Amino acid sequence: MIEINNLTKIYKLSAKKKRELKTNKDVKIAVNDLSLTAKPGEIFGLLGPNGAGKTTTLRCVATLLKPTKGDIKVCGFDTVKDAQKVRDSICFLTNEIKLDEHFSTDYLFNFFGKLKDMSDEEIAKRKEELFAAFNINEFKDKKIQELSTGMKQKASIAVSLVNDPEVVIFDEPTSGLDIVTAKGVLDYLKKLRADGKTVIVSTHIMSEAEKLCDRIGMIIGGKKVIEGTIPEILEETQTPDIEEAFFKLYMENTDEKEVK
Ligand SMILES: Nc1ncnc2c1ncn2[C@@H]1O[C@H](COP(=O)(O)OP(=O)(O)OP(=O)(O)O)[C@@H](O)[C@H]1O
Ligand SMILES: [Mg+2]
Repeated sequence: MIEINNLTKIYKLSAKKKRELKTNKDVKIAVNDLSLTAKPGEIFGLLGPNGAGKTTTLRCVATLLKPTKGDIKVCGFDTVKDAQKVRDSICFLTNEIKLDEHFSTDYLFNFFGKLKDMSDEEIAKRKEELFAAFNINEFKDKKIQELSTGMKQKASIAVSLVNDPEVVIFDEPTSGLDIVTAKGVLDYLKKLRADGKTVIVSTHIMSEAEKLCDRIGMIIGGKKVIEGTIPEILEETQTPDIEEAFFKLYMENTDEKEVK
């Protein structure tokens, strides 16, 4: 279970960041009073355009960032006060975290399994399952630097799942993957859901969200603009599909100057 209560995250902007964002403001409100709940046995989709605040939200859930305001509970534990307990029950995948280029997937899988206090037998059992699910056996002994983007992504996913966590936090898990590989990842997320895990994924691919997610929260400019099942969102927005719903909400909630 993930419970986000009135999360606000404000970044202080360095001179360099101010130039990048073309602003003279000293702070950026990346997430603005956002609340949502993702439950066990459910895939929750965090949908939003570039810069909406998806990664920032997920980094707060994964204890990598402290909320400026509000709080987050994961499996009942507070992400600030009980950060270690939260870390023990989650896995976090984001394209900012890279596997060390000099090691093989097989080596890194063992390494992270040991870090999580797993026995050799437990690691071997997980490895058999995950390497088969993501077709990793054919490149398991190659160094990460020799792998293609898609292979690296599959390796990162398998390594992140080593300790069979209760809560799975995936930031754009299919980014860089071809449709066959992407389908493999999405099918695995469905398996995790069937196993009763809490899964939260971010994406800006509407069709993917529509097929995969039980419930969706759309964020625009750091604010949640809608949350619900797909039929609920279509009903509330009076639109035929999630893409149309998104465009409608985007037009209603965006002031061009505010997008970046
Ligand atoms: N470390 C940081 N310092 C300052 N501003 C930041 C920092 N990280 C993100 N931002 C800003 O916060 C806002 C939200 O960024 P975030 O990365 O959470 O968006 P996102 O929804 O994940 O976007 P994308 O789809 O491009 O991955 C953006 O305006 C971004 O420029
Ligand atoms: Mg992001």
